[in-house]
Amino acid sequence: MRTWQQAWTEALYGEGGFYRRAEGPAGHFATSTHGTAGELLADALLRLVEREGLRQVVDVGCGRGELLTALAASSRRADVDLGLLGVDVVDRPAGLDPRIDWLISPGGPDLPDLGAPTDALVLAHEWLDVVPCGIARADERGVLRTVCVEEDGVEHLGGPLDDASAAWVRRWWPGPHPPGATVEVGSTRDEAFERLVARTGSGLVVAVDYGHRTGSRPPDGTLIGYRAGTACPPLPDGSCDLTAHVAMDSLRADTVRTQREVLRDLGVDGTRPPTERAHTDPAGYLAALSGASHAAALTGPGPGDFLWATRRVP
Ligand SMILES: C[S@@+](CC[C@H](N)C(=O)[O-])C[C@H]1O[C@@H](n2cnc3c(N)ncnc32)[C@H](O)[C@@H]1O
Repeated sequence: MRTWQQAWTEALYGEGGFYRRAEGPAGHFATSTHGTAGELLADALLRLVEREGLRQVVDVGCGRGELLTALAASSRRADVDLGLLGVDVVDRPAGLDPRIDWLISPGGPDLPDLGAPTDALVLAHEWLDVVPCGIARADERGVLRTVCVEEDGVEHLGGPLDDASAAWVRRWWPGPHPPGATVEVGSTRDEAFERLVARTGSGLVVAVDYGHRTGSRPPDGTLIGYRAGTACPPLPDGSCDLTAHVAMDSLRADTVRTQREVLRDLGVDGTRPPTERAHTDPAGYLAALSGASHAAALTGPGPGDFLWATRRVP
């Protein structure tokens, strides 16, 4: 029987894997990179790029290029010359803005040669949560054992953790682990983030994801499936996404901050315009109101709690 990590990898990135499907992730769930929220996020990222003196954006795990498309429009409006590179596991989507370059990646923890981009914002928005990790569960004696899974989702406890996983747990998710407690072993995400940093020539590497930090680890595990817009039991059969929250502090980033803090610093403001403006400038009022409600969505409960792990590459 396969471990969760093996089954998860095959289900998402194997031949016919979930992420190789034509409809892409946006066919199954919405993220902050889509629609009007994505346009606001792109404007904020452009401000970050300009503030940091960067010249290009590499979006790793970019779906079908939704955020890069918004960045292309945003930079065009602002008359900023910005290099754009999308990286994902499928061929370049038809009709993608010609300003966006494209690279195919093997998927999961593995990355292609990115060409060591310099002065780059290298962004991984909701990538690490789909990098498969080991799942461990405490047996009746409180000893962590690897969880194995069948294709129909039935789980069995396997052997004890390998040394590297056990060391990661001691450092980042220490016990006691009461019987039944689940630990999602973050070492594969740490290594993937490190790989991304190593493939960056210079600039800022940013991983944005839902996650947790020491002191607030989830006791029961977070692995879940998504299919056609709804959460579903995690089945490793390629029929659904498989995602688990990320231990963001173990990535050894320079900073880990909430999306709320980062975006407010970048001027994303969910304050509603004064109602008097509706009388003097109805169109402007409506536009400002719509902008504020999308900004509030990006910085409010849920998306606002996402964590941004940032590492500077000199
Ligand atoms: C949860 S989706 C997020 C898509 C997009 N960034 C967003 O926020 O809407 C994860 C994406 O990461 C891609 N992915 C997974 N592993 C990858 C890898 N090693 N290199 C590039 N893309 C990867 C998947 O194919 C999928 O499109």
